[in-house]
Amino acid sequence: MAEERQSIHGQWSSRMAFILAATGSAVGLGNIWKFPYITGEHGGGAFVLVYLLCIFLIGIPVMMAEILLGRRGRQSPINTMRSLAKEEKLPAIWKYLGWMGVLAGFLILSYYSVIAGWALAYVFRTGSGLFTGATSDGAQTIFAELIADPERLLAWHTLFVVMTMIIVARGVKSGLEKAVRYLMPLLIGILVMLVGYAMSEGAFQEGLHFLFDPDFSKLDETAILTAMGHSFFTLSLGMGAIMVYGSYLPKNTSITKTSIIVALADTAVALMAGMAIFPIVFANGMEPGAGPGLIFQTLPIAFGQMPGGVFFGTLFFVLLVFAAWTSAISLIEPAVAWLVENHGQTRIYASVIAGFVTWFVGLATVFSFNIWSDVKYWDMTPFDLLDYLTSNIMLPLGGLLIAVFTGWLMSRQSVQDELAMRYKGLFNFWYGVLIRVVAPFGVIVVFLNAIGVLD
Ligand code: PHE
Repeated sequence: MAEERQSIHGQWSSRMAFILAATGSAVGLGNIWKFPYITGEHGGGAFVLVYLLCIFLIGIPVMMAEILLGRRGRQSPINTMRSLAKEEKLPAIWKYLGWMGVLAGFLILSYYSVIAGWALAYVFRTGSGLFTGATSDGAQTIFAELIADPERLLAWHTLFVVMTMIIVARGVKSGLEKAVRYLMPLLIGILVMLVGYAMSEGAFQEGLHFLFDPDFSKLDETAILTAMGHSFFTLSLGMGAIMVYGSYLPKNTSITKTSIIVALADTAVALMAGMAIFPIVFANGMEPGAGPGLIFQTLPIAFGQMPGGVFFGTLFFVLLVFAAWTSAISLIEPAVAWLVENHGQTRIYASVIAGFVTWFVGLATVFSFNIWSDVKYWDMTPFDLLDYLTSNIMLPLGGLLIAVFTGWLMSRQSVQDELAMRYKGLFNFWYGVLIRVVAPFGVIVVFLNAIGVLD
């Protein structure tokens, strides 16, 4: 029975290890790079409000469902979905939910590692004192020069893919735990310091107003879809990353508590990043909607002006690379676990294959910022398209299917056994309200709204 099932890939050593690994997966470029720039593009407050609602009403309930499926199945998401469908006497087609996740993981990691490459490049740029005394124009030029050069982007992208694959090849559990335990608090420490800098030197009031005062006239259908998509992206939901981590979770840990802790930590990091960045944006007369380069054009100004900026700046980008690293590992783990299970590959061989595919698809993003910047489909560069397709469509769709599977198709008894919640009322609320109704219908309504059906 499910109770005795063990993962062939091993188990987390404790509940804390799982919390750290899941937080490592959730906290990444999504919080520090993506959240501020999409918030800037979609007008601030109202967007943030929708994002927060999605985290609490859809994200946390779906996270619980995804972890519970993983722990019950104890295999890669593809095989977990296949065996759970069989156990529950449901059609085998559910394994394609796992396949969609594997595909989404490749597509996301392909561009994620290019952006992580920017962060790597910035470790050296800040470390060499390049930003000392920098103005907003200077910071913008340095960024523009970096992304205009495909060879440099390619080199950094390659380095990041190799770094990721080395860790994945060794198995996600060794090392990850310790690193997250020490480096995550440091990252939070630096963010607190940056918020402090923004308070004293930036246009703090204006920044807070932009982030937290909702102006609903700025909230169009795309903004709502993007906010919802981002709530999945930032919590690593809908593609099997949290499911595969859940498959290594010991039986007696509380899925509810761990999900809430991870989601709160993730949200706190994103909001802090926003509070650090927008005051700098406004104090320097910059454009909040500057796009994917936003943090790379604003934070160097702060580091260029504060005492000890070279040290703190370098440390910040090192920690950002690190946060991206622990997320990247989880993006590819579902694919690697499947290769090991179904093809009897060693982890090393599986990682090399997965790494090569990621690297190759990543070329589309590398070129999106330079030689292909005019290649547009539906007005989007290949990078924009990859991001739109994965965050706004594939992840919410994955989340929707996870909610339907758990809430409507699995037997209530299996769900209840696996979740083992102490308070019956809380379980009834999660089950009857959140996972059966609010989460799936929430996603459907946002989708329909985005394609204009609800007008
Ligand atoms: N949550 C990660 C971030 O915010 C990205 C990610 C998405 C990781 C999906 C795994 C799965 O950076």
